[in-house]
Amino acid sequence: MPYKYDEVVPWGRSMEEYIWMFNLTPENLKLKILGCGDGPASFNYEMTKLGYQVTSIDPLYQFTAKQIQERIKETYDNVIGQTYQNQEKFIWERISSVEALGELRMSSMKKFLSDFKKGKKEGRYIEAKLPHLSFQDEEFDLGLSSHLLFFYTDILTYDFHLRAISEMCRVAKEVRIFPLLNVNNVFSPYVGKIIDDLYQLGKKAKIEKVPYEFQKGGNQMLKIQ
Ligand SMILES: C[S@@+](CC[C@H](N)C(=O)[O-])C[C@H]1O[C@@H](n2cnc3c(N)ncnc32)[C@H](O)[C@@H]1O
Repeated sequence: MPYKYDEVVPWGRSMEEYIWMFNLTPENLKLKILGCGDGPASFNYEMTKLGYQVTSIDPLYQFTAKQIQERIKETYDNVIGQTYQNQEKFIWERISSVEALGELRMSSMKKFLSDFKKGKKEGRYIEAKLPHLSFQDEEFDLGLSSHLLFFYTDILTYDFHLRAISEMCRVAKEVRIFPLLNVNNVFSPYVGKIIDDLYQLGKKAKIEKVPYEFQKGGNQMLKIQ
């Protein structure tokens, strides 16, 4: 049975995975980064610990750490259960099994939860929802979005995608989006149209191969400059 989500779920990846997904070089890590839809990922926590500068936005950040933890608990069984039924859609190398995946994700999300209160106070976790961002034009060097845009093609409209990506391009000098596949490994039909529509708006978008492939065929990001 294919994956089916009625809404975008909170699920968190690690800094190492962000580095592979977005092909981040040591120089890229030094940039002022905005993560859109970072949710309970540990990217912000791990980067901050190393002295880098990341701001994350997500509507999830309206809740307390305890409420987010509850939401993760509710989501966990659903995501892991659906992954058991869809194991053939993944490459089980770096992550060796569904159990290892569950442990890895929980480890990242626990790191996020331990950092959330402090990070929110420091302005590193900001409650906001694409397609609206309250930042200045080009306030960030690099805008990233992982496992939100294109991934939820089935429940988020094309118009939402164009407005969200245009807004990310307004506040960041460069934008990277990963993956280009939806939850069932289908290349999002939005990608080509987004590239064309951004071109009309004076933005150059290109597809680039990255060293991360967990969903089979999911080793490409969209880079917009
Ligand atoms: C599947 S999680 C991915 C989290 C993280 N980027 C990662 O890859 O580990 C998707 C996140 O998108 C967030 N989200 C949903 N709608 C959003 C919107 N309109 N703007 C920003 N984030 C949104 C959800 O709250 C959730 O935390």
